[in-house]
Amino acid sequence: MGEFELLERDGLARLGRFATPHGTIQTPALLPVVHPDAARQPVAPRELRRRFGLGAVITSAYITYRTPALRPVAEEKGIHGLLDFDGPVMTDSGAFQQHAYGRIEVGPEEIDAFQRRIGSDIATVLDVFVEPGASEQEARAGVDATIERARTARPLHRGLLAVPVQGGLYPELRRRSAAEASALGDVLAVGGVVPLMERYRFADLARAILAARPALAPERAVHLFGTGHPMTFAFAALFGVDLFDSSAYLKFARRGDLLFSHGTVAIDDLRERTCRCALCEAMPLPEVAHLPPAERERRIAEHNLLTSAAEVAEVRQAIRDGALWELVERRAANHPALLAGLRATIRGTRVFLPTEPESRRSFRVTGATSGLRPCVIRFLAHKDGWADGRGPFRTHPRVPLVPGALRSTPSRCRDGSELWWEVLTTFGPVPLELTELYPVGCAVGFEEFDDGGAPPAGPDLAGLDVEAGTDWTDAWTERHRDALLEWLYGRESAGALAALGLTGERSRRTGRLRALRWDGRKAFTIGNDGVPRPTWLGAQLLHRTLRYPAKRIIVQPDAEDFVAQGRSLFSRFVAGGDSSLVPGASALLIDADDHLLAVGRLLLAPPEMGRMPRGVAVRVTAHLRAPEEPEEPEGPAQAAGDPGLPPNLQP
Ligand code: GUN
Ligand code: ZN
Repeated sequence: MGEFELLERDGLARLGRFATPHGTIQTPALLPVVHPDAARQPVAPRELRRRFGLGAVITSAYITYRTPALRPVAEEKGIHGLLDFDGPVMTDSGAFQQHAYGRIEVGPEEIDAFQRRIGSDIATVLDVFVEPGASEQEARAGVDATIERARTARPLHRGLLAVPVQGGLYPELRRRSAAEASALGDVLAVGGVVPLMERYRFADLARAILAARPALAPERAVHLFGTGHPMTFAFAALFGVDLFDSSAYLKFARRGDLLFSHGTVAIDDLRERTCRCALCEAMPLPEVAHLPPAERERRIAEHNLLTSAAEVAEVRQAIRDGALWELVERRAANHPALLAGLRATIRGTRVFLPTEPESRRSFRVTGATSGLRPCVIRFLAHKDGWADGRGPFRTHPRVPLVPGALRSTPSRCRDGSELWWEVLTTFGPVPLELTELYPVGCAVGFEEFDDGGAPPAGPDLAGLDVEAGTDWTDAWTERHRDALLEWLYGRESAGALAALGLTGERSRRTGRLRALRWDGRKAFTIGNDGVPRPTWLGAQLLHRTLRYPAKRIIVQPDAEDFVAQGRSLFSRFVAGGDSSLVPGASALLIDADDHLLAVGRLLLAPPEMGRMPRGVAVRVTAHLRAPEEPEEPEGPAQAAGDPGLPPNLQP
């Protein structure tokens, strides 16, 4: 328990499972804030689960403790009895009341003991709420006190403990607070940010989370206190926030405000039926506006819960699709404050790079910030390295997707000198050889729809002394092959691989490079992301060509047999590896003596491997042995010492 399991990811954003004594939370999850007094809670926790699919809640241990009518009930029946709810219940400790009222009337140990007595599934350490305007001294004192209290609380808790991360707007304090919380908490709860969200200071919010993020342990669940507005969910999830909590659905309902993923709308301004959710279908919002106050508030709260739950689902789907950046950009287009948050996020690209996937299914340009996504920044930096020493480049029309286009693109002049071409893409000029790679190859920008319909002209050969009428396709296929191998494996290894005589195969329909073959057999397949993926044969070739530990993940002895038989490599069985690998990349799975067991694609980034106690680290795609037939070198898998390999590559 208390272990976060990652199932799917899109960069830092993740879909996961977090187990509690009252059931597992599927994350990202929205925990509605419920009032411990049923009379003040218009939608009962059971209803939240049944009608809105919100299966876990958060409530205030502090209010429960301080309310004479509630405390004895909670002491006797537990918090689940008080709330009449048998799902996961997180309790908060009172720091928010310190923010709202300037003080609280309970000590940290008192409220900690109370949370244990009432059987909270996730208890929260009583933190010191650090206001965004706090001086550095105040902020440091708040962080220190919070850490001290967490240290006191930890040994007393067998159950799950949320440790708040404070630090105001001081990056170094946020970082230290996150690091200390990571050592003590099961849930790392980033706090002190409600005033930022209330004032739409999303750029400051982004900077606070960016400062904390690298120090937040990947094996813990991350909570962001007060992420109640659905327009912020995608933004928060982008940083790897797993749990949001919301009292916004209720607070906004009290003042007649409707929550949407695109912003807030006052119900009294609404004359049209803009929402057709099931609730608003039953009673249109302009009619809800005229209901008696209590009924009106309940209806608005329910609408708000529905739009919030729908936005969580939207975020989850975007993570599955690898489209969360796009969703965030679309949300940011709804309010300049969110756009400011996104721009501040982009300035922190470095934080995203270690978990930034090698590729995604698609890349859609949604606006001016699309070209600044981490995948683009990384591509352009890598491109500059690749192009170093090549050139000068000439501009080539955008033709690589047209079948046969390469036929008329010369690769050399008559005097043997190489010709270098670059294509003007959404991301600026890109060498022709790299244009099928993610994100360039699958990017859909507005240019796509604004080319006037004219077919691209051929390359401009004026002033070049080339043989006209020559078919250059094979020359280009070779260059393309070498370019991709160098892109992935560096110049030296690419040279060794090319020397093996790999041949490229193009799709007849699209003209794109689709496979690399060795001796007629497929060694690499190339998908829409343009990245060559080794087959078992390809893995063997790589293994003999790439110097240890490049592109390798080392499997612990306990798991060697499983992996060699094609089972996924679990995080806890990883012994080490090449730290430059990223999620989605192909890696060679080896034993401690560098024997090749399998090849697979990373789900986790290397720094997360071994730390995450549960779940898959690498999904195996081809492997050494058939299952249950340990000694049989048959099928697609081939034993080491493959007689089909060239003599200089025999082990
Ligand atoms: N609720 C909203 N913000 C906070 C915070 O910073 N700490 C705690 N404990 N609860 C909160
Ligand atoms: Zn509605």
